[in-house]
Amino acid sequence: HQAAVLTLDGPGGAGKGTISRLIAERLGWHLLDSGALYRLTAQAAVKHGVSFDDEPALARLAETLDVTFLAEDSVTRVMLEGEDVSTAIRTEAAGERASQVAVLPAVRQALLARQRDFRQMPGLVADGRDMGTVVFPDAPLKIFLTASAEERARRRFLQLQEAGENASLPSLLKEIQARDARDMQRAVAPLKPAHDAIELDTTELAIPDVVDHIQRLLADQG
Ligand code: C5P
Repeated sequence: HQAAVLTLDGPGGAGKGTISRLIAERLGWHLLDSGALYRLTAQAAVKHGVSFDDEPALARLAETLDVTFLAEDSVTRVMLEGEDVSTAIRTEAAGERASQVAVLPAVRQALLARQRDFRQMPGLVADGRDMGTVVFPDAPLKIFLTASAEERARRRFLQLQEAGENASLPSLLKEIQARDARDMQRAVAPLKPAHDAIELDTTELAIPDVVDHIQRLLADQG
């Protein structure tokens, strides 16, 4: 008997991270931030001087990644080899590097078992790009969250401003579009909705409304 799993896939900035966390909190379920694993693999490569062309070495890094997720109030601290990298892995540059290692099939394969290990009782909310298509294809409820690139850039801009970081809206939009293109065009596990996913466009929706909507879908399923 397998634990329940809810998958949330979609492009960056569609609200997956926040929405996944809120749903997991409400249900008391575990949370998998799969993007963090790709970000951490890239971070470890930089730290250990591993070239982004060296697929076997990157796959070994992914497989042996020494990472701990520490759940605190409303944030999760991410530790890589005992070092707090929570902030370092969240920059646009770190996201860009993550999407570079994410095109490599050996890296994706190395992270597969690690991601499936998160599926534990009473249930799991899995956030990513290929949660519904590749990692948990048997999930009974799959959500694909989208929002226009302009709206996603605007949200990211506000986030960065709040964090006191410099940001330019036009360059954020460009970065988001470039990362979308790479994620959708890659050969292995490209970003796309599972055939049985429910698509939700969040461009004009507030986060609490999306959370309520998904919870109703879960409840309807029984
Ligand atoms: O979701 P997040 O922005 O943290 O993901 C960073 C990058 O990791 C994505 O742009 C994507 O290339 C990659 N990723 C992936 N598969 C996942 C999650 C993230 O390829 N399941």
